Amino acid sequence: MGRIAPSILAADFSDLYGDISKVEEGVDLLHLDVMDGQFVPNISFGQPVIASVRERTDLYFDTHLMIDRPSRYVEDFRDVGADRLTVHVEACADTQAVVEKIHDHGMDAGVALNPDTDVEAVEPFIDDVEVVLVMSVQPGFGGQSFKPKTLDRVERIADQTDTEIEVDGGIDEETGAQCAEAGAETFVIGSSLFGRKNVPAALGELREGIGIEGR
Ligand code: DX5
Ligand code: ZN
Repeated sequence: MGRIAPSILAADFSDLYGDISKVEEGVDLLHLDVMDGQFVPNISFGQPVIASVRERTDLYFDTHLMIDRPSRYVEDFRDVGADRLTVHVEACADTQAVVEKIHDHGMDAGVALNPDTDVEAVEPFIDDVEVVLVMSVQPGFGGQSFKPKTLDRVERIADQTDTEIEVDGGIDEETGAQCAEAGAETFVIGSSLFGRKNVPAALGELREGIGIEGR
C-alpha cells in the first residue's frame, strides 16, 4: 500500500524531463505544484510547462492548484493534460461547485487544506472527491520542515472516510512513516527525492523507509 508522488518543484527546471526520467519507471504519478503569487506568495509554473511535460510522459498528473478562484482554470488544466485537479478550500468561494466542475471536465478532483485550516472545512467534501490533500507545511515553498500536528489531522480524516489521503511538505523516510501510520496513502516528495545525489536510489530508500510495498 501507498505510493510516492514526486514533486517537480524540486527538480532542475532547465532539464525538467531529465529529472522526471529518473523517477518515471518507478512511480505512477507526478505532483505538479501550480502557484499564482496570490494564494501563496510564490510563483512556480502553469499550463505551458505542464503541456510540454505531457508531451514527454504518460504519468498521471496530480495537479496541486495553489491559486485563487481555481474554478476559472479548470478547462485550461484539463486541456494541457491534467488527470487530477486538487483545489484549496481556502481558495474557493464554492468548493462543492468547483469539485463538480472538475468532475464534469472528466478529471479526478481533490480538496486541499492548509496546516492552520480547521479539518472541518474539508469534511463536507471528503466523500465526493478522489483525494484529500493534507498540507504538512504552509504551501508556497519546497524544502520546509514537516509540521507534526499533521498526524492528528490525517488520523481524524482517516477515521471518517476511505478516500485517499495525501500528505505534502517535508516528507522523508521518518515523517512519511509517521503519516502512513496515521492513515496517509500518497506521499508528495520534493527535496528529499530530487535533492539527493542518486534519485532512483532515493526512491527505493524512501519507499522502504516509509513502508511502501510495490510501486
Ligand atoms: C509546497 C508544495 C509541495 C512541495 C513539497 O507548497 O505543495 O508539493 O513541492 O516539497 P518538499 O518535499 O521539498 O517539502
Ligand atoms: Zn504540492
